[in-house]
Formats: sequence, C-alpha cells, structure tokens
Amino acid sequence: MRIIITGSPGTGKTIIAEKLSKQLGIPLIDIKKVVNKRKLAGKRHEVDLKRLASALSFLKSKKDFVAEGHLACEVRLPADFVFVLRTNPKTLKKRLAKRRYAKRKLEENLMAEMLDYCTQRSEKTYRKKPLELDTSGLTVAACVSKIIKAIKQKKKRLDSVDYSGELRAYLRPGR
Ligand SMILES: Nc1ncnc2c1ncn2[C@@H]1O[C@H](COP(=O)(O)OP(=O)(O)OP(=O)(O)O)[C@@H](O)[C@H]1O
Ligand SMILES: [Mg+2]
Repeated sequence: MRIIITGSPGTGKTIIAEKLSKQLGIPLIDIKKVVNKRKLAGKRHEVDLKRLASALSFLKSKKDFVAEGHLACEVRLPADFVFVLRTNPKTLKKRLAKRRYAKRKLEENLMAEMLDYCTQRSEKTYRKKPLELDTSGLTVAACVSKIIKAIKQKKKRLDSVDYSGELRAYLRPGR
C-alpha cells in the first residue's frame, strides 16, 4: 500500500505518519529528511521540486510505504491513497506560535490552511481528489484509526473541510 500524508505545516503529518507506518508495519519516508540529507533547500528554504522528484524516484519500485511531507502535494509520487491533514486555524496558530515562527511566516501558513492550499494542490498534482482528514479535536491515535478505516473501506471521501468562515473573520478590517 502506497500512502501519502500531506498538509500544511503543523497539521500533524510527522506524528501521525510515524504511528501509521508502525501500525501497518510498512516503511516511513519523511520527505523533510530527504530534503535535508540531499541539501535540496536554497537560502530562503525554497526547495528545487525537480531535484526532489528525482530524489524520491526510488519510490517507484516500492510497493508499500507511508510518505509524509508538506511537499508531497507538489511532487507526484506513486500513490494508492493521498490524505491531506487539516487543522482548525485556531489550533494551528497555537502550534505554530510554539515554534516561534516569524509573524509573516505564521500568517502565510495559516492563510494556506484557510485557503485549502494543500487540498487544491494535491488534487492538481495527483489528478484526483485527496482524502481530507479533519484532525481538529482528535487525538493522534484517533486520526490514525480513521486513516486505517478509510484505507480498509477504500473510501473516496472522508471529511469535508471549509475554513472560509475563519478566513472571512481573519480578513475582517480591525479584527
Ligand atoms: N491530533 C493531534 N492532537 C494533539 N496534538 C497534535 C495532533 N497532531 C499533531 N499534534 C502536535 O502538533 C505538533 C506538530 O505536529 P507535527 O510535527 O507532526 O506536524 P507536521 O505536520 O509534521 O509539521 P511540519 O510540516 O512542520 O513537519 C506536534 O507538537 C504534535 O505533537
Ligand atoms: Mg513534519
């Protein structure tokens, strides 16, 4: 089974994918580790996606893996299931603030989540709708269980996430 876990930074990809790969007994590919090991990020942390695709081309010969990373929505990997983790912007803001992100970086990331960036991008990259999982209010274990259930049931849809209300509130003048 080839499983992709993507989503905005801080939505829980690493922690959830680690547990998932352990429970399923299949290897975990951490895309961030590949980027660092192969020094694929530039001075402004921008990643050369062509080089990343080539660094991940070994996946073509693999039958089973969980590949996790925000960039999995940009680079087309072999996939049976593509999950996009979603997290309520309020919760996400708290998580990213803990990382001491600069204000602009924090806002860009929150905006990306509210605009469904990874979902839209995944749909374009993989040419099919990904399975969105709303992790808000769920434990990591519950998220993993939901993913396993969706795989077993070969689901084509999971949650339907819409943060347009949060986006409107965020953009309101004088908020
Ligand atoms: N469902 C959850 N419930 C509670 N805490 C969570 C949940 N999911 C993730 N977290 C916490 O949120 C933080 C971010 O999680 P994680 O590092 O897995 O995110 P990520 O999506 O891999 O981020 P990045 O894209 O930056 O690598 C961690 O401290 C993690 O413990
Ligand atoms: Mg991570």
